[in-house]
Amino acid sequence: MARPTTFRPIASSIAPSIAIAAFAGLLAGCGGDAPEAETDLTSPLIDERHENFESIGDAFKAIRGQLESGEPDYAVILSNAEDINQRAGNIEAHFAEETAREDGYDTEALAAIWQKPEEFAAATVKLQETSAALVEAAGTEEMATVGAAVKEMGGACKNCHDQFRYDDEK
Ligand code: HEC
Repeated sequence: MARPTTFRPIASSIAPSIAIAAFAGLLAGCGGDAPEAETDLTSPLIDERHENFESIGDAFKAIRGQLESGEPDYAVILSNAEDINQRAGNIEAHFAEETAREDGYDTEALAAIWQKPEEFAAATVKLQETSAALVEAAGTEEMATVGAAVKEMGGACKNCHDQFRYDDEK
């Protein structure tokens, strides 16, 4: 008759320590087969930035498609570069409130964006400058010049993604 009452405290002291261990594994983010933390919170800002980046991605694809065609339509490259340049100007506002993946949001935006605001702003400026340079380059209608400018702009995408975007292949 005494057993259930003596066992209960033991059981309830073990359960929380298991929960804490599991939670610590999640926080470490490298707990082998520990499942990843939930990222299901939403925000209108996240929808806006997804849309903006999707369009930036589409414009970049259109530009590369022209170059790869071997007979690029420089007007198409120019208008897509202008689109990217204009959309680069939206980026800052889309990160006004901290809505990081680490906070449980459904996003690839890393907390580093809010921890290193100057670096993030610099990465944004880099896209603004390289897309403006591509607009200029497209005006020359010279394949080599345009190709070099596209490469520079692609470097600006990668520079920011490497630092600030979650990569599930890492
Ligand atoms: C200043 C930083 C920065 C620059 C520059 C940048 N990106 Fe991104 N990009 C991000 C972040 C952060 C996300 C994740 C957004 C999210 O999930 O909320 C992202 C997401 C994306 C996505 C996925 C769509 C989405 O939101 O899930 C695409 C496509 C993309 N970027 C393409 C590009 C291309 C192409 C360029 C260059 C022409 C570029 N990006 C430049 C930071 C940047």
